[in-house]
Amino acid sequence: MSKHVAIIVGSLREGSYNRKLAQALVGLAPDGLEFTFVGTGALPLYNPDLDEGTPPEAWTQFRKCLSRADAVLFVTPEYNRSVPASLKNALDVGSRPYGASVWDGKPTAIVTGSPGGIAGFGANHHLRQSLVFLNAPPMHQPEAYVGNITEVLDEDGNIINDGTRDFLRSVMDGFAAWIDKLSSAS
Ligand code: FNR
Repeated sequence: MSKHVAIIVGSLREGSYNRKLAQALVGLAPDGLEFTFVGTGALPLYNPDLDEGTPPEAWTQFRKCLSRADAVLFVTPEYNRSVPASLKNALDVGSRPYGASVWDGKPTAIVTGSPGGIAGFGANHHLRQSLVFLNAPPMHQPEAYVGNITEVLDEDGNIINDGTRDFLRSVMDGFAAWIDKLSSAS
């Protein structure tokens, strides 16, 4: 049976390289994974007071989408050596109300993309730390840092370089195996 993977892109920018990269990753995934892109741009900033009554509809929809997913793939840029605020907000929204976190037990994977050579290392590891805390185990290997992202994709969003394409295919194969491993353990 197919596994449903929610994809969260850390950039809200229309022309986002990371969004293009996420779309390319879908094309490289093995059979047996189905993907849904879940937006985070319309989520009001997390405020526990708003969970006291009827929470904002955007939070409810987001939580439902994530609850239905078997796994989550994060593809994100780095902002100021951490994750973009919209992504951190999405983690916080999904983690509450206390005891009803949508992340709990979900296999995850992280791909960071940057025009720079450090390739989003800071964002990758800040996100990894949050996911460990949230009990949403991030895939250990392969780690995926995509540097010089402006040179990785052509105008149509195809991965130009064969070596990069093969590596990213191995990331998606690894993620499928990670999902299977954690699903069979639970
Ligand atoms: C950036 N950028 C950036 N890049 C990086 O490698 N490390 C960083 O810490 C930052 N910090 C940062 C902060 C803010 C507020 C912005 C807007 C940008 C540059 C960033 O990697 C670049 O804009 C990417 O193109 C963003 O990814 P998308 O939107 O193309 O997916």
